[in-house]
Parts: sequence; structure tokens; C-alpha cells
Amino acid sequence: MSLLEVRDVTRRFGGLTAVDGVSFDVHEGSIKAIIGPNGAGKSTLFNVLTGFDRPDEGSVSFQGRELTGERPHKVVLRGVARTFQNTQLFEEMTALENVLVGRHARTRTGFIAAALRLPGTGTEEKLAREEAARLLRLLGLESWTDSPAADMPHGLRRLLEIARALATGPTLMLLDEPAAGLNHAETATLAEALYRIRDAGVTLVVVEHDMGLVMEISDEIVVLDQGRKIAEGPPRLIQKDPEVLRAYLGQEDEDE
Ligand SMILES: Nc1ncnc2c1ncn2[C@@H]1O[C@H](COP(=O)(O)OP(=O)(O)O)[C@@H](O)[C@H]1O
Ligand SMILES: [Mg+2]
Repeated sequence: MSLLEVRDVTRRFGGLTAVDGVSFDVHEGSIKAIIGPNGAGKSTLFNVLTGFDRPDEGSVSFQGRELTGERPHKVVLRGVARTFQNTQLFEEMTALENVLVGRHARTRTGFIAAALRLPGTGTEEKLAREEAARLLRLLGLESWTDSPAADMPHGLRRLLEIARALATGPTLMLLDEPAAGLNHAETATLAEALYRIRDAGVTLVVVEHDMGLVMEISDEIVVLDQGRKIAEGPPRLIQKDPEVLRAYLGQEDEDE
């Protein structure tokens, strides 16, 4: 089943068409990657999909309902979470507290109260803490539960940001370059975490530069070049696609 439908999305900045008539579907339970050279329009597309930007043309629907033009907060309430290219954590708060902030994005106590660490109602708070602890375990971060985010190594901070996004209870999660700055071992941990998240029922869309990771984890790949979708398909076909090789992978081959 198609969970997300992107239809003819165009976004212009002055004379520049950053995203140019892009359409694709994301199927429930799958991992979809969006790749392309720098400036291809990946981040712009992500912003359009998560309410941080609006398309000039086209539409996005989620679970069969229009998502285009919804505010970021409403997008989260609809069950779409995202992470950012640059990690954004509450540094002095513990790992558990960071995850709680995500959870509170959709509970009564609210995001601001959580950020200020105001006490919630007893039962709600207890459930929230149990759920946050469960998410830390899911990402293998349980030993960091009570450590300030600032003390965590870079790779684990990326995972913590994913845990926090998961705490909003998403059906769909969009990750912007989750492997950026990760070493080989950390990237392997990330891949395992992504499989676990997918197996827990969360559909994933991943913008990523690490081709090894993309080819390993993706069910399908969308390739953007200068705002246009130039290819879409499973990794084994994308790897051989002449237009993709010319626009993107070919540049790497020439370097070798
Ligand atoms: N807010 C903006 N104002 C003007 N130009 C922008 C803006 N955001 C992105 N662009 C331009 O749109 C194009 C696509 O950018 P982006 O979506 O960030 O690409 P990618 O994430 O694939 O590297 C680039 O040429 C970029 O300079
Ligand atoms: Mg980008």
C-alpha cells in the first residue's frame, strides 16, 4: 500500500527550480532512499514533505489525505517525524530526557513543558518514561540513559536524535543524512537500528550520501539531479542505470 504519495512537486527559489515536477510513492513498511549530487533538491524536497516549506506546484498526501501546506507541528501529529542533517539535541539534558521531549510533542503536557522539565501528571509521566527507555533500548543506547547528551559520542548522538523522533510515535520517519560523520562501525550500528525501526512498523525515507549504506538498506531509490527525478527503482537497477551513472555515480568512477 502507498503510504506517501508525492505528485508533481515543484519548488522554485527566484529563477532556480530546486525541485522540478517530482513524483514518487513510498510503500508501507519499506525503506526508500533519496540520493543525488549536492544541490539536487533533496533537502528542499524533505522540507516540503515535512511542512517546513510549501511547494509552488504539486501535492503530497499521506495515508490518502492531503499533507501539503500543513505546519510542521501538524505533520508530526499526523504521524510523520523527521531528523535534521545537523544534530539538534538538548545538550545538558540526559538521553532519556531528550527522548521524553519527542514524546511530549504529542501529549497533553506538551513540548515546552517537557523542555522546561515541568512535572507532568503521575501516570502519564511514568508511561512516558517507560516508553522512552524502550526506545533507548531499541537503539542500543540504554547505558547512556542518564548521561547528558553533550557527553555522548557523535555516532550515538545521531541515534539519540532518531530515538527522539521515534518518540513522537510516527508511522513514517524521514532521516536527513543519518550516517553523516559516522565511522564504519557506527554506520553498521545505524543500519541495524534502521532495520529494527522498519520491523517495528515504521516506514522510512532516508536522504543519504553513504552509497554503501543506501545500496544495503534501501528497498527503492529515487535519484534526483538538478531538481528532476532521473531514476527510481531497486538498488541493483539504480547501480546500472546509465543516466544515474552519468549524473552521479559516474563522477566517482572517473576518480578511480
Ligand atoms: N531557501 C533557499 N533559497 C534559495 N535557494 C535555495 C534555498 N534552498 C535551497 N536552495 C537552492 O536549491 C537547490 C537545491 O538545494 P537543496 O535542496 O539543499 O539540495 P541538496 O539537499 O540535494 O543538496 C540548490 O541550488 C540550493 O542552492
Ligand atoms: Mg541537503
